[in-house]
Amino acid sequence: MIQIKVPATSANIGSGFDSLGLAVRMYNTVEMELWDGVLVEALDSAPIPTDEHNLIYKTAKYLFDLCGKPLPGLHIRQENVIPMARGLGSSSACIVAGLTGANLLMGEPLTREDIINMAATMEGHPDNSTPAILGGQVTAAIENGKVFYCRQELKDDLRFAAIIPDSELKTSQARAALPKEVTHKEAVFNLSRSALMAVSLATGKYENLRVASQDRLHQPYRLPLIPGARQVMDCALEFGALCVYISGAGSTLMALVPAQNDSFFRHLRCYLDTAGLAAWRLELLEPDNTGTVVEVRP
Ligand code: HSE
Repeated sequence: MIQIKVPATSANIGSGFDSLGLAVRMYNTVEMELWDGVLVEALDSAPIPTDEHNLIYKTAKYLFDLCGKPLPGLHIRQENVIPMARGLGSSSACIVAGLTGANLLMGEPLTREDIINMAATMEGHPDNSTPAILGGQVTAAIENGKVFYCRQELKDDLRFAAIIPDSELKTSQARAALPKEVTHKEAVFNLSRSALMAVSLATGKYENLRVASQDRLHQPYRLPLIPGARQVMDCALEFGALCVYISGAGSTLMALVPAQNDSFFRHLRCYLDTAGLAAWRLELLEPDNTGTVVEVRP
C-alpha cells in the first residue's frame, strides 16, 4: 500500500493570477494499491465518486494508459481534509495523488519534473499543482506543456488564515465571470504587484504585502460571487492581516497574518459569528515547505 499526503494550496496570492501559489499545512491523504476492479473508500463524509469517475482513479488510469501499461484496477482510500470547490486546491491534490501513486505503482517511469508538467497541464494552470508537489511558494509559467518555475521557502513567521465560506464556488463558474480582455494599464497594475509579492514573501518585506496583493484581473469580478466577502476582507485587515485575497478561484478568503498576532483568530471568529456568518470556518494554518510526501507500506 502506498500512502500519499498532499498539501492544500492557495493560488494567485491576489495579483499573481494563474502564476503564484503557496502550500499550507492542511492535507489530503490517499492510500492506493493495485486491485482487481475499482474500489474507492472515503475515510470521511466527503461526497466523492466511488467508481471509475473518481478523480484520483481517472488520473492514475490516464497515466497507466499513457505509459502503455494495463491497469487491473485500484483500491483507493482517501481522506479529504481539504474542502472541495473552496479555492484550496482540492482537485490539484487529487490529480497530484493520482499521478504520484500511479507512477510509483509502475516503478517510477516519470521524473518529478514530468509530474509537475503533467499535473499543471491536467489542471489547466500551474499555480495550485506546482506548490502542491513542491511545497513553499511557487512562481510559475507554463509553455508548451512545460512548467518554468521558481520555488522558495515560506518563512515560519507567517500564518495563513483560511476563511472558508459554507458555500462552494466552482472554478468554472469563477473563471466564467472574468472579462475576455483587460487594458494595458490593468495588466501593468497586476504584473508589478505580482512580482512584488513573490520577492516580498521571499525576503520577508511584509509591509509590501498589502499593495502586492492588489489585483485588477480577477478579484473585482469574483467578489460579487461570494456574499459577505468584501466586509470580511475589510475586517481581516482591521484585525492585523498583512493582506487578504481570494484564495484560488474562491470561495475561501486567505489572510496572511504575522505569527505573533495572537488576537487575530479570536477577533475574526467573533466578527463572523455576529455578522450572520457563523457557518464560515476559520483555520489558522502554518506554511508547508515539504510538498507531497509518499510512504510505501508493506
Ligand atoms: N488561478 C486559478 C484561478 C486557480 O484563479 O482560476 C484555480 O485553480
